[in-house]
Amino acid sequence: MNIFAKKLSVMKYNLSEINEIIRNRRSIYPKHFNTRKVHKEIIETLIENARWAPTHGLTQPWSFKVFMDKGLNKLGEFHAKTYKMKTPANLFLKKKYDKLIANPMQSSAAIAICMKRQETEKIPEIEEIAAVACAVQNMHLTATAYGIGACWVTGGATYSDEMKAFLGLTVKDRCLGLFYIGYPNIEWPTSQRQPIEYFTEWVTE
Ligand SMILES: Cc1cc2nc3c(=O)[nH]c(=O)nc-3n(C[C@H](O)[C@H](O)[C@H](O)COP(=O)(O)O)c2cc1C
Repeated sequence: MNIFAKKLSVMKYNLSEINEIIRNRRSIYPKHFNTRKVHKEIIETLIENARWAPTHGLTQPWSFKVFMDKGLNKLGEFHAKTYKMKTPANLFLKKKYDKLIANPMQSSAAIAICMKRQETEKIPEIEEIAAVACAVQNMHLTATAYGIGACWVTGGATYSDEMKAFLGLTVKDRCLGLFYIGYPNIEWPTSQRQPIEYFTEWVTE
């Protein structure tokens, strides 16, 4: 091996830490957050890292609306009210209604995850949604590194036109969910995944 090739093969980052962060990233829900507040500077770092996600054509289709303090009440009340308004009485669940109010109230911040549709619509929408999902993963991994709990939650009125209007989105944009963050009051959860043989096929000839 010549010197140049040897240099290339040197690990640039601490892979064991990266593996650990990726594998320990867990969804931790607002009912398991304590009252300690996540500082705005940390939330800015999550969003800073979000913007380094891959994006076809560098469209950077993400947009985030961060609800904190009284903004959390506003979000919860709007979400619960809209869920009630849009749900037929026979399908309406009071438990769900209460949770839509409680989730933001129990969080340090709720970040609305949005996809802004490009004017030209040149990039397929599925790729823009995929890019936003990558950005959310960046936020989630960064939260994990801080020991901060986070979860991506949909449901309720997430995909409604009312939610779009509430978030100031246009018809072609999308709200993809809410990202709740807070410090956990539980042991860091564990999880399981299928081994790679279950979903990986190697094609060599
Ligand atoms: C797009 C998306 C939407 C999700 N929506 C919800 C949700 O509405 N409610 C919920 O409890 N969890 C939701 N989750 C979190 C998943 O349930 C969670 O990722 C899964 O159970 C695996 O757990 P882990 O994240 O701790 O590995 C969502 C995750 C993604 C990626």
